[in-house]
Amino acid sequence: MITEFIKTEDLSREETLVRIGETLRNDGIVAIPTETVYGLAANALSDEAVKKIFTAKGRPQDNPLIVHIGELDELYPLVSEVPEKALMLAQKFWPGPLTIILKKSDAVCESVSAGLDTVAVRMPSHPVARAIIKASGVPLAAPSANVSGKPSPTTAEHVLHDMNGRIDMIVDGGESAVGVESTVITLCTEKPRLLRPGGITLEQLRSVIGEVELDNAVFNELQKNEKPSSPGMKYKHYSPDADVLIVRGDLSGLVKLAESCDKDRTAVFCFDGEEASFPNKTYSLGDRNDPVEHAHRIFDLLRKADEENFTKILVHCPPKDGVGMAVMNRLLRAAAFNVIEV
Ligand code: TXA
Ligand code: MG
Repeated sequence: MITEFIKTEDLSREETLVRIGETLRNDGIVAIPTETVYGLAANALSDEAVKKIFTAKGRPQDNPLIVHIGELDELYPLVSEVPEKALMLAQKFWPGPLTIILKKSDAVCESVSAGLDTVAVRMPSHPVARAIIKASGVPLAAPSANVSGKPSPTTAEHVLHDMNGRIDMIVDGGESAVGVESTVITLCTEKPRLLRPGGITLEQLRSVIGEVELDNAVFNELQKNEKPSSPGMKYKHYSPDADVLIVRGDLSGLVKLAESCDKDRTAVFCFDGEEASFPNKTYSLGDRNDPVEHAHRIFDLLRKADEENFTKILVHCPPKDGVGMAVMNRLLRAAAFNVIEV
């Protein structure tokens, strides 16, 4: 399959959007930019189209997808009920990086919900994503547009690297602003529960609907017999080819550790101003106290370190409050929960 790459400039021509819409209505697969990460989109009402996503990504069949809508009206046909709290969250955070899990309706095809009786829905804010949803006229199922298990793509070049030859089109909409996937909250448990932290923080959710539980899997490895609240939790995630190690402690401890590693094969992720302390190649996550910037950079840096063939990445542990919770959640998985204190 030849993958067509659509440049941002070309989107100003109406016919380009019409063609993208047609491709999606005809069961094609199109990678689209969103404000969180790039998504691999297909018509959520077509089982045939959605199955192609699983093939292109190499995604396990039992891992359900998020359905993307353009307007609140489009939520109702997808779900069997819309609780008050869903409306409160939608009003406050949509369009934006929040996914809400609700009881599904029959309109959602089998493979989207992977056999569950719930569906995850989100309304993205990226103008190109919105234009594409509108042009297609259907809700779009879209997981992150990476090969399953790899860091999520935050640029169209990342998508090209993973998906060239596997999908119909890649639409370039520039760098994803948030840089990590959406916050996922379920309203199908006894109390609302945060399953995946993202650009919308736990504090923000609580300020709108009150009590929200934090799922145990956000910061902890799933135990052998533990049933995950979200099927995605059981799979290996965000892992670059290199081994990642999260290092907790002050700069001098990290520098000592880095000096003891093979410097040609070990990269260091640190904060602005720390770079000169290391003999190794460093990548800065940004200002130490700026988790929004850490989120923006993390997946790109994991991919960059792989491109330069590092076999080990030492990460100076970032703060985990606010959006930092999402960064830590992704890092823990990238590191297979390997954290050391120095
Ligand atoms: O920001 C995002 O959410 C991006 C962009 C493209 O919108 N999408 C994304 O999709 O991250 P994906 O498939 O990479 O992650 C979706 C996560 C998975 O962990 C999946 O298991 C979970 O959401 N999920 C989807 N539907 C669910 C459901 N009905 N119940 C529980 N978890 C669900
Ligand atoms: Mg993903």
